[in-house]
Amino acid sequence: MKNRYPPGPKQFLLLGSLRQFANHRLEFMIANRDQFGDIVHFRFGPRHIYQINDPEMIQYVLAKHPEQFHKSPALKRNTRQVIGQGLLTSEDEFHKRQRRLVQPAFYHKRIAAYGDVMVDYSAQMLEGWHTDDQLDVAHEMMKLTMRIVAKTLFDADVSGDADSIGEAITMGIETVGRRITQPIHLPDWLPTPQNRERKQAAALLEQTITRMIDERRASGEDKGDLLSMLLMAVDEEQGGGMSNKQVRDEAMTLFIAGHETTANALAWTLYLLAQHPEVETRLVEELQSVLDGRLPAFADLLCLPYTEMVIKESMRLYPPAWVTTREVIEDIELGSYPIRKGSIIIMSIYTMHRDPRYWNEPDQFRPERFASGWEDRVPKYAYFPFGGGPRVCVGNQFAMMEAKLVLATIISRFQMKLVPGQQIVPDPLITLRPRDGIFMRLAAREAVTDPLGAICN
Ligand code: HEM
Repeated sequence: MKNRYPPGPKQFLLLGSLRQFANHRLEFMIANRDQFGDIVHFRFGPRHIYQINDPEMIQYVLAKHPEQFHKSPALKRNTRQVIGQGLLTSEDEFHKRQRRLVQPAFYHKRIAAYGDVMVDYSAQMLEGWHTDDQLDVAHEMMKLTMRIVAKTLFDADVSGDADSIGEAITMGIETVGRRITQPIHLPDWLPTPQNRERKQAAALLEQTITRMIDERRASGEDKGDLLSMLLMAVDEEQGGGMSNKQVRDEAMTLFIAGHETTANALAWTLYLLAQHPEVETRLVEELQSVLDGRLPAFADLLCLPYTEMVIKESMRLYPPAWVTTREVIEDIELGSYPIRKGSIIIMSIYTMHRDPRYWNEPDQFRPERFASGWEDRVPKYAYFPFGGGPRVCVGNQFAMMEAKLVLATIISRFQMKLVPGQQIVPDPLITLRPRDGIFMRLAAREAVTDPLGAICN
């Protein structure tokens, strides 16, 4: 195979583009697309990187030939220290087996039952909110979605620990997110502040998850939730169940993946609504006419199409998982370029979601883009907030349902205004978080009863 590289940015001798990427990740990816097109080549140190900006190439990698790729080694190496080897980071047969075991917890019928918890916990949160309060909605959403995932998947109550676990996860994500672009890593056993922090974060998460598992094993009860499924799962081919470590790793993965992203989606949605009163008005109209002053429920979801459009559009502009990467495990050809085994493919969901070739005025917040039939107007992999192919997000329906129910509950009760003078900065580490939070001032919404009552049955 002859080396022939696609165009790309100027490379620095040792680091390649590592520093440019580390300092301005979102802008770097967009500039590459604009200057060099569908496939862009650069290096991170000695490693060859290919950024692909074309829906068909992305489909090739994620969905058509996933067997030619693995998750990227940097992500696996760094995240495994915190969440072990769960669904997110496992590969091949082991991944297939674990996915088979976990998937049933997310069947449609089962997640319908989670709806009540999502709404109850949101309503409980709102009991503590009052007109003129100022709060960081990013932090509030993180605590809420963490409580929801702990209750629905593990039947556990983490209210008392939500703040400290949240801090531990933030610390974990920050250290892992930054380490991925550090050219040199000091050994993990050195007592550097960074290593100490990472270990503390991992220890607190570990304690929380282990407590959930121990309590369940001790009770011996089958609660029919994910944790019971993991503990009772029997491998059809090899017999036997999962080891304690496997259960712990899957539980830890789902606990983190299952709340962090949805919390960010909700926080960005509240931020966008606060800046677009016309969208908020239309959303409130839909909620009032369907709910007529009551709390939402699973059965209402099909009657809330605009609520869904708002969330989809918010995840277009601020995709909580903003990038996904793969390692090429055999020599392949992509976009008529030869790509060698060991190279890394980067797919920037953020860049694709703002590509003017597929989206009119891509930086504008316009939920109407997602009016029915949108799938026929946009190529499949121009919008992929949940990834695709066999490794598509296992919790995508859970997340959409949660985002809609939580948003409907909040927006029916409160109006929010951004506290002036703050700078909202997206921080693209592993997920796309608002770097310094999003502070809002609350106003209780007047309850309006629609004389026509529910319009959707
Ligand atoms: C808005 C919310 C969410 C977003 C945007 C999101 C996004 C994603 C994306 C893009 C992937 C694929 C990563 C890749 O291919 O490299 C993924 C995988 C995954 N997600 Fe989500 N996710 C969300 C919510 C959830 C929830 C609620 C859960 C669980 C309760 C979850 C669990 C997982 C797991 C376990 C995987 C790995 C699946 C596999 O490799 O088989 N996610 N998610």
